[in-house]
Amino acid sequence: MSEKIRKSIAESRWLKWLDERVRIKRWVVESINKPVHPWARKWYYCLGGLTLITFLVLVVTGLILLQHYRPTPDEAAESIGRIMNDVWFGWLIRGIHHWAANVMMVLIVAHMIRVFLTGAYKKPRELNWIAGVLLLVTTSGFYISGFILPWDQRGFEIATTIVEGLEKIPLIGDFLAGIVTSVTPVGGEALGFFFTNHVIVLPLAIFILLLFHFVMIRRQGIAEPL
Ligand code: HEM
Repeated sequence: MSEKIRKSIAESRWLKWLDERVRIKRWVVESINKPVHPWARKWYYCLGGLTLITFLVLVVTGLILLQHYRPTPDEAAESIGRIMNDVWFGWLIRGIHHWAANVMMVLIVAHMIRVFLTGAYKKPRELNWIAGVLLLVTTSGFYISGFILPWDQRGFEIATTIVEGLEKIPLIGDFLAGIVTSVTPVGGEALGFFFTNHVIVLPLAIFILLLFHFVMIRRQGIAEPL
């Protein structure tokens, strides 16, 4: 950020207005003046931030889709059809949601590879690496459950494969499959499980993990390369 932009933010009227109410100016000025380390100016240090931007796109488009989607076997495919044909720009919102999900998967893996190759997972950042692994698991959960929601042939087959796969796990298989659904062949209960996870459980989990991730980055700074 150039000196001019930083100065105009620090002296802006809206920041003064906000500061008089929530005392935020010192924090904003400190944040925008924090220098970026020379080694962190390479493009591949932006992969984490790009992952975050993609995630925010998914949240906004997902909230719009949620207004029109119906999570029952009878209505799911029909509501997707309505989104594609009748909802104003629904086809575009759904398309952006779909492609942003794919882009996020690529970016998160690329970010993880960058962190690994620059040795940024080592002491004292082990806990943030573990939080990152949990972020990857959560993101994969979003991705897989998202494909089930339209409840078309593919969605039904993915849900069935997951339940059958869980059943095959020794000792705890039936218990785990029972968490997803108590009836076979899979139906409304399983769809409800994946829907609840997609729009409530996983968003809560990713919010907590991201908060931890960013607080740690803020405290520890960006690691020097090996
Ligand atoms: C939703 C997913 C994620 C988001 C939004 C995110 C965001 C970020 C951001 C913005 C940074 C600052 C530096 C940079 O951008 O490279 C960062 C650093 C870091 N991330 Fe992530 N990240 C995510 C997932 C992951 C994953 C999957 C891992 C590894 C398993 C990971 C491990 C780390 C570590 C260890 C750092 C500190 C790197 C350093 O100090 O150089 N993150 N993350």
